[in-house]
Amino acid sequence: MISLYACAASHRAESINRALLDYALGKLRPHAPTWQTTTLDYADFILPPYDDAKRIAEGISPEVQQAHDRYAQAQAWMFAVPEYNSSCPGAFKNTIDWLSVFQPNVLSGKPVILLCATPSERGGVIGLMHTRQILESVGMMVYPTMISVGKAHEVFRREGAWTKPAKQTLVDDAIKQFCTWGALLHHGLSG
Ligand SMILES: Cc1cc2nc3c(=O)[nH]c(=O)nc-3n(C[C@H](O)[C@H](O)[C@H](O)COP(=O)(O)O)c2cc1C
Repeated sequence: MISLYACAASHRAESINRALLDYALGKLRPHAPTWQTTTLDYADFILPPYDDAKRIAEGISPEVQQAHDRYAQAQAWMFAVPEYNSSCPGAFKNTIDWLSVFQPNVLSGKPVILLCATPSERGGVIGLMHTRQILESVGMMVYPTMISVGKAHEVFRREGAWTKPAKQTLVDDAIKQFCTWGALLHHGLSG
């Protein structure tokens, strides 16, 4: 059993990244029937702005400690991260910054797959590269294929065939291969 935590970095009820995350989880489950998946609300995932002086003076707050302890249970991750100004949303990175000050680092060595849906054609690849760099710098094992869906409002369908079937096949294959890769990595590192 692998415990995978999933989160879309958007507050919007109609978030295209949350829709893509849900789609990806739906594709993952048949390939990883023994994995337990937990979807986190972004409102729960984000934390107060990181303040190094306050942390040193007052220590870690209960809110941050609880988040850390919860995420220590995750053995793999899936993030759907909107592209904000060619990077990830600042609040998303803020949580990664908080988690990075704990020793041992609960993100280190954890397999993660990244997704991004955007209304623009480029599909958020620059934001994905930034997000990858951040997560690798805290030791996460980022799956080589990052899923980017440009013009998501036109291309993506929650159910049935996408308007670009080749893109859907790429996404489906990447999810399937992540299950094999993530399990190998998890059992290799923990065994
Ligand atoms: C502050 C901000 C910056 C954005 N920057 C980009 C960008 O650099 N590239 C892009 O393709 N879309 C950008 N967008 C548009 C988002 O991709 C779009 O709002 C998307 O729907 C957000 O994801 P969500 O639907 O999951 O909330 C930006 C949106 C916001 C609010």
